[in-house]
Amino acid sequence: MDTNQSASATVAEGASVMRIHSDAEISEEAKNYHRLIYPKGEVVLKLENLTKKFGERTSVNGVSLEIKSGEVFGFLGPNGAGKTTTIRMIAGLAGITAGEAYVCGHSVKTEFKAAVRNIGGIIENPEMYKYMTGWDNLRYYADLYGGISDEQIMDVVRLVKMEKRIREKVRRYSLGMRQRVGIAQSLLHNPRLLILDEPTNGLDPAGIHEMRDFLKMLAHDFGIAVFISSHILTEMQLMCDRVAIVSLGKLIAVKSIEEWTRAEGSTVKMTLLVSKPAEAAAVLNQKMGVDAQTNGKLIIFNVAQDQIGQISQVLAGKRIAILSMVQGEKSLEETFLELTSQAGTEIN
Ligand SMILES: Nc1ncnc2c1ncn2[C@@H]1O[C@H](COP(=O)(O)OP(=O)(O)OP(=O)(O)O)[C@@H](O)[C@H]1O
Ligand SMILES: [Mg+2]
Repeated sequence: MDTNQSASATVAEGASVMRIHSDAEISEEAKNYHRLIYPKGEVVLKLENLTKKFGERTSVNGVSLEIKSGEVFGFLGPNGAGKTTTIRMIAGLAGITAGEAYVCGHSVKTEFKAAVRNIGGIIENPEMYKYMTGWDNLRYYADLYGGISDEQIMDVVRLVKMEKRIREKVRRYSLGMRQRVGIAQSLLHNPRLLILDEPTNGLDPAGIHEMRDFLKMLAHDFGIAVFISSHILTEMQLMCDRVAIVSLGKLIAVKSIEEWTRAEGSTVKMTLLVSKPAEAAAVLNQKMGVDAQTNGKLIIFNVAQDQIGQISQVLAGKRIAILSMVQGEKSLEETFLELTSQAGTEIN
């Protein structure tokens, strides 16, 4: 369905697809904005065997995936994995060698205009006129799209928290401020898909935190499909609903953050500090069949998730005191390193 007109036009034409908020489902913070709300769970971006070759080199190798409205989707991979090239193909900035990219059902190859209307994003550096103010830049882009009011511009300015500095010339902005205005600009035409290539590059910790929160708000409250690339693992873990790992142009796996952090079959690494470690190891082996390693008072073992509850009972039965108990989770970082080292991380 074609949902991407200017906000006012769209609301007038078809409130069935989206509505201005007044909705109890959305967060308190989101209620401060007058953005359109898109339905969640619809496939907004679909890649089918997307491939890019530069001469002999295959930089993107048969990538297939689907991204839905309402989710923050992370594209995680080391330098040279093909993240930017994939994004450039989706946005029509690089030709597609083979395969397809569909945005809201429109092929980027054969219906470019219909596809790209639904995309907002910053692919390389935000394009802005440095001698103009942030506001004038936004006004200028709003006029190119047509039908966007000052109020709507102010809404995106508040969203990226730039209201205090928006009347200053862009050349006086810091990198982070330019990034924010760039995102504001890419949201002006109410895209259903927001694509950001390494959005937290160059931001300070506070800036990263804010960016995280507001990208989540865009997805979870307003139903935008947010597609971000990064090579920073912890950041993806904090920001994304699902993460795809790419390496050497290939998609290795796509999983939800929970699936990434909770290993399959769910064995968990337990680290305990106990009063009688040797006895503890023996009784845990006998009663639960675990293979525990000890070091001083420390005792470490892997156990099935559903057995965790038994540990304290088994030890209490032998009057062994638990001084501390830490449940380890497999971090995305570990998984990422495991997966990409299998594929090889060397730059080719
Ligand atoms: N215009 C081009 N001509 C030739 N090779 C290219 C071109 N653009 C990208 N490549 C190659 O494609 C591969 C993937 O590059 P890409 O920029 O997509 O990686 P990336 O995942 O975005 O990496 P980074 O994390 O460093 O930004 C690299 O080997 C790169 O050298
Ligand atoms: Mg890149």
